Amino acid sequence: MAVSVDRILRWKQTGQSAQPIAVLTAWDVMSAQIVDAAGADIVLVGDSLAMVALGYDTTLPLTLEDMLICARAVRRGVQNALMVVDLPFLSYQTSVEDAIRAAGGMLKAGAQAVKLEGGHEGVVERVRHLVQWGIPVMGHVGLTPQSVNQFGGFRKQGKTQTEADRILTEAKALEQAGAFSIVLEHIPAELARDITKALSIPTIGIGAGSHCDGQVLVTADVLGLSAWQPPFAKVYANLRQQAIEAAQQFCGEVRSGQYPA
Ligand code: KIV
Repeated sequence: MAVSVDRILRWKQTGQSAQPIAVLTAWDVMSAQIVDAAGADIVLVGDSLAMVALGYDTTLPLTLEDMLICARAVRRGVQNALMVVDLPFLSYQTSVEDAIRAAGGMLKAGAQAVKLEGGHEGVVERVRHLVQWGIPVMGHVGLTPQSVNQFGGFRKQGKTQTEADRILTEAKALEQAGAFSIVLEHIPAELARDITKALSIPTIGIGAGSHCDGQVLVTADVLGLSAWQPPFAKVYANLRQQAIEAAQQFCGEVRSGQYPA
């Protein structure tokens, strides 16, 4: 049965939380088909695709148009999972109106929800407006990669009590504004546990320990396709090496005349 926002929103209340939510990213039709066939509950068109699929050092250069192209491709590959798309940097920060236009465009491209980074008052206001206009929103606090320059790198967040208190406050504010779930990225496991306990909407962890209601990883990391993986990623296959070897075999066979037979 296809996963809906409503089902994710009610995950904790209906006791479904006994089975954590599995989330994987996708950036094109092939990755989307793989993740959907694997039975992921949510497919996230994360702006990490800027680094994974487009070769940028950060997520910042990604444009709305880049994201729309990827979102449409992913839509064509997903049948059952709930499809959530990241709003790229500078598509929602400038005004509520820009946020509604960007998020609405993603829904027109086939997304069922959008994800915004951060939990300060500006973001919370955007979330409130989007939800009022019928656009479901997933929040994202902790290490928010669009703020990499402010953090001085992709560093773990929430290590001091002040930071931890701020992140908890942000998560509560996002819930209040109507977010249906929240990604907790690269924060201490105890903080993720406290946030998970404090909220009635599901938390989705990445590098945030085992106490969250769900877990997300970047699919290119899971499959061992990316050249580099973050320390918290678990690599389940080594497809990069297998692909190189298959391509090498092809080149060798062409040069030796073995292919075509
Ligand atoms: O962009 C992304 O892939 C993400 C996940 C890592 C949560 O935001």
